[in-house]
Amino acid sequence: MERKWWKESVVYQIYPRSFMDSNGDGIGDIKGITSKLDYLKELGINVVWLSPVYQSPNDDNGYDISDYQNIMDEFGTMEDWEEMLAEMHKRGIKLMMDLVVNHTSDEHAWFVESKKSKDNPYRDYYIWRPGKNGKEPSNWESAFSGSTWEYDETTDEYFLHIFSKKQPDVNWENPTVRREIYDMMKFWLDKGVDGFRMDVINFISKVEGYPDASNPEGKKYVSGHEYFMNGPRIHEFLNEMNQEVLSKYDIITVGEMPGVTPEQGIEYTAEDRNELQMVFQFEHMDLDSQPGQNKWALKPLQLTDLKKSLTKWQKGLEGKGWNSLYWNNHDQPRIVSRFGNDREYREISAKMLATCLHMMQGTPYIYQGEEIGMTNVKFDTIDEYKDIETLNMYKEKVHENGEAPEKVMASIYTKGRDNARTPIQWDDSENAGFTTGTPWIKVNPNYKQINAKQAVEDPNSIFHYYKTLIELRRKHDIIVYGTYDLLLDNDEQIYTYTRTLGDEKLLVICNFTEETPQFELKNRFEFTNKELVTSNYNVNLDEDFHSFKLRPYEARVYKLT
Ligand code: NOJ
Repeated sequence: MERKWWKESVVYQIYPRSFMDSNGDGIGDIKGITSKLDYLKELGINVVWLSPVYQSPNDDNGYDISDYQNIMDEFGTMEDWEEMLAEMHKRGIKLMMDLVVNHTSDEHAWFVESKKSKDNPYRDYYIWRPGKNGKEPSNWESAFSGSTWEYDETTDEYFLHIFSKKQPDVNWENPTVRREIYDMMKFWLDKGVDGFRMDVINFISKVEGYPDASNPEGKKYVSGHEYFMNGPRIHEFLNEMNQEVLSKYDIITVGEMPGVTPEQGIEYTAEDRNELQMVFQFEHMDLDSQPGQNKWALKPLQLTDLKKSLTKWQKGLEGKGWNSLYWNNHDQPRIVSRFGNDREYREISAKMLATCLHMMQGTPYIYQGEEIGMTNVKFDTIDEYKDIETLNMYKEKVHENGEAPEKVMASIYTKGRDNARTPIQWDDSENAGFTTGTPWIKVNPNYKQINAKQAVEDPNSIFHYYKTLIELRRKHDIIVYGTYDLLLDNDEQIYTYTRTLGDEKLLVICNFTEETPQFELKNRFEFTNKELVTSNYNVNLDEDFHSFKLRPYEARVYKLT
């Protein structure tokens, strides 16, 4: 396998609105990020993925861009951004920008023009269609509730928006749009950016004709994803983007790709295909939802499902593509509340989850606050929530369909995106040290117990544990390049696997429960030396590890030679 710096990296995601506010307006900003770079350096990450900081009316917190080449006023200026980049580079940290080109904001100059008339030169930058029998051109449901089509009176046509109606989808069939996007990418790369995370990039090619999706239950709108996920021209577009832009720079690229399979993952990431380096897949994030339903239909996680899914990706891409590894991002609930225990075992279970993920093959991503074990939040009323996805869903279910508010709130508590978007808890001062003003979204009330200051000071904290995991990855090639094999496939409590490189083996053992299951290795492999690489409890080194009782949420990594 070819060695690459981006395979050996650990990425940290910043969601700027919630990271650090430098000017007291309650909104995180770029100077705030710059002021915390020493913290990131101390953690040891070497790449930052920065969620969008471009001009935006913030219908979807920056994922609706009105000007790709300017910085959002609330976040600062281009000079602030340049200073941040220089300060990152000074510390050996690379910067990966978010590239949101499936859609723009409806306030983008292209769309403002496009709306004006059918013969406007920008008309074809977006996807306009006449209605069908007095209704939308197709029955597709938007990711943020309602139809994917919005009617516009000026020209008596509908435009497509897979996300909110303020996020019209760009028409990638139009070569002029593609050229503009490539030029914009070069603008940032020439400024010194080190890569891109590409927002829903496998949605950019749509099936012509926009057919109705099958709708056996006769719902008003249904998911039309088969007509835009991994669409007919997707590989051609990515290949062209690679040839025109990506291949000219030594950068890191990751495509966010809902609904992708490992076979497709290889098509997107195999080195000889010249598309992207890795994808964010979502299979493991869907295991706690009822199959075939949306994310709000809750279901407890079964460990064997998680093992099956992650193993499929580990083995599927081995030697052929490259994995990204993540538990968290700005769209997902907090992992310690989700697959761990955010009460009596918060620290232990957060460390166990980190061990389980960081010992796998792929590039790990840490989402802000994960490194201090931040938890989900429960606001009392819907009015305290800010996320468009949550608010639209609540309105539809409670106000239009008459569902019980308590039931809907329960799914928001478990799955809502605002769980990940409460401000970073820097210390135990007012507003957790995030702002001197009023935060745009409330701080999680547990900030007095959970905050970065206390985590940095405590050598046994989750923060220091992540730091160790990052250092281990730097030191041991086997963590980056070793092959992965699952053991105890059917065990519902213990996730254990090995990594192998040459004569070396790593044995990773993780207890996903608060019980104390017996671990049985049954003399499976031969070795002369065993070394404990890391663990989240103190371990008696003389203990026979072929058969022992695991403590609640215990994790251990042994190196066998
Ligand atoms: C995926 C992003 O991660 C999410 O936050 C956003 O709402 C959608 N794409 C639309 O851009």
